[in-house]
Amino acid sequence: MTSERTRVLTGITTTGTPHLGNYVGAIRPTVQASRNNATEGFYFLADYHALIKCDEPARIQRSTLEIAASWIASGLDPEKVTFYRQSDIPQIPELTWLLTCVTGKGVLNRAHAYKAATDKNHAAGHDTDADVTAGLFMYPVLMGADILMFKAHKVPVGRDQIQHIEMARDMAASFNHLYGEHFVLPEAVVEESVALLPGLDGRKMSKSYDNTIPLFAPSAQMRKQINAIVTDSRLPGQAKSTEGSALFQIYQAFASAEETAQFAQAFADGIAWGDAKQHLFERIDREIAPMRATYEDLIHNPDKVERLLQLGAEKARARSAPFMAELRSAVGLRSLSAKAAVQTVKTIKAAAPQFKQYREKDGLFYFKFVNPHGEAVLQSKGFASPRDAGLAIAQLTQQGASALEVLQAQLEPISDKLRGQVLENLSFMHLNSDK
Ligand code: TRP
Repeated sequence: MTSERTRVLTGITTTGTPHLGNYVGAIRPTVQASRNNATEGFYFLADYHALIKCDEPARIQRSTLEIAASWIASGLDPEKVTFYRQSDIPQIPELTWLLTCVTGKGVLNRAHAYKAATDKNHAAGHDTDADVTAGLFMYPVLMGADILMFKAHKVPVGRDQIQHIEMARDMAASFNHLYGEHFVLPEAVVEESVALLPGLDGRKMSKSYDNTIPLFAPSAQMRKQINAIVTDSRLPGQAKSTEGSALFQIYQAFASAEETAQFAQAFADGIAWGDAKQHLFERIDREIAPMRATYEDLIHNPDKVERLLQLGAEKARARSAPFMAELRSAVGLRSLSAKAAVQTVKTIKAAAPQFKQYREKDGLFYFKFVNPHGEAVLQSKGFASPRDAGLAIAQLTQQGASALEVLQAQLEPISDKLRGQVLENLSFMHLNSDK
């Protein structure tokens, strides 16, 4: 058996400058996970996704550079993982179309991002789809293609993205049901311990609230922004509450348990807010400063980043190109040349379900019906002669479902779960039997 590493995949949309919230919530945990040798990492810049919310070309390009540089400066090793830009992989939009054709429109109607937009329109008395692009509507399918293309097992995401992973699973299952087992069913991984970082005003740190602290701002600017974190008006010497303190929560996201406990003590002892901010700045800077030089170097040498992304794209396409060829053939987008047709028939034959006959120690003759994956879906009881077993098999292949009823007494009970599979495989045999 080949030992297959667990594939972990995640992407970041390239619409903004990475901030401390992105670092704590996405960049740092993915870099840590990428060091685990039991996993194989796929990390990418979701620039097709960026087009859904951003129509400023320069900003998308800049953000792609900044996010790529942040990931690398934070310790992501492009040699060890597959690190790429989504739009360098032409098979992703191609797969998006195949998935579009197995995804219910009603399912997409219920996707959170689209629903939020239409709910807002309703509330404002506008047309349901006013200002909603088809891109926003199709967002989950593009994301499904990102994930399914590389057969990811685990997808680390924020809570708001869980629904998209569930949709990707459904797309994979529908496709597999129609065309055979091609896709792995992915799972969302939501790290409970990863803090949702509060921003300057105490709400979740987010570009849309304009309350962020850029990850690699020059240190003087970072100090200034930390000084702008909102606090209450307690004076030096007055005990302060850690509960609900954005300053404390940001500190906690960078500090060890021991440091955090000391900081909590300082709060209880009435540390001045100015001193607390100084502590916070120093703690963050201790982690970020060593990476800042790498970041600056990459930002000023975008060619270096471009080269890394090109290498990553080659690695990624070495997977996506052959897989896409397999998928195209599976759905019937195939060459018409005779040779190709013969090959296709061969693969069908190889993947056909079969009856297997055998004799047991009890001297009786048995058969089982095996699906294309080699799993028994039907098991007979013992027959007195091989001929009797053969007759039962002939009846099953020729009559399908009705023979299942007639032969009930000679077969082991079929679970409801397998019944559909048995029927599907029997009808396959029936269609393909050369009578
Ligand atoms: N939609 C994700 C976000 O906004 C980014 C993303 C795009 C992604 N494709 C993905 C994340 C595939 C995980 C897997 O956060």
